[in-house]
Amino acid sequence: MPPRPNLFDFHGVSMSHYFTDNWENIQNFKARPDDVLIATYPKAGTTWVSYILDLLYFSQPDRQKSTPIHERVPFLEIRIPNICSGTELADRVDTSSRLIKTHLPVQLIPKSFWEQKCRVVYVARNAKDSAVSYFHFDRMNLAQPEPGDWNSYLQRFMDGKVVFGSWYDHVTGWWERKQSHPKLHYMFFEEMVEDTGREIDNLCSFLGLTSTAEEKEQIRDLVRFDNMKKNDMTNYSKAKVMDFKISPFMRKGKVGDWKNHFTITQNEQFDEDYKKKMKNTTLQFRTEV
Ligand code: A3P
Repeated sequence: MPPRPNLFDFHGVSMSHYFTDNWENIQNFKARPDDVLIATYPKAGTTWVSYILDLLYFSQPDRQKSTPIHERVPFLEIRIPNICSGTELADRVDTSSRLIKTHLPVQLIPKSFWEQKCRVVYVARNAKDSAVSYFHFDRMNLAQPEPGDWNSYLQRFMDGKVVFGSWYDHVTGWWERKQSHPKLHYMFFEEMVEDTGREIDNLCSFLGLTSTAEEKEQIRDLVRFDNMKKNDMTNYSKAKVMDFKISPFMRKGKVGDWKNHFTITQNEQFDEDYKKKMKNTTLQFRTEV
């Protein structure tokens, strides 16, 4: 494994080279009108929603048993040496309704997704749980920059000095785009935890899909945290860059784990800074359910 990558400024967003090395192909990527883009800030429940959409569109047992979810749903901007890049993987998909995942902030999305008027599912998660989840992910993912200790990590998260930049800019940028792009479904991790079935119903209405109550119940069961954690096709156990001895990918799947990490002082400073950064948006989050 090469050394951990550095963070650098890329068009005003902190990035690592794994997500910029393929930039020309990303910007020139040809979206198709029936593509569905799954966009998130890291750790918002991308894999969870990817798996739900994959089951809604393609529930064939072969596909579900043989191919890990990160190969079924290409990660647009990734390029890691010796592994097929996201754009190559997406170009190879020959079915309709390609599902494509991205963590890019809205202003860096290839323009063909807007030109083709693709459907977009954006998933957001509250800042505190996102920071905690991202910290543990950066500890175990050897393709991410070193996270350092929790206190310094939290400060860098607040400063937007983590891969894919500022959480605050990401969630608000996509929220604003929803106003001008009606085919954008903005959903929340916390709502998924509260009532997965209701969120699956909302996704079906947005995507124009019809599933029977029985099919939806089956999907709801497959996508439960414990079942995804056991499932080698959804738990990232096949990903070579992750060290599960440090922390598993399917870690806790809870709302409110931040309470086990934030000190009282950190929480006060975070809340004060949050108010300033989020003062101009109507977007609201829940930090408990
Ligand atoms: P935690 O680290 O808090 O456990 P992403 O897929 O965007 O990287 O997000 C990963 C986060 O989503 C992890 O959060 C993971 O446990 C959680 N997650 C994944 N599948 C889940 C599920 N079925 N139910 C609840 N949380 C889930």
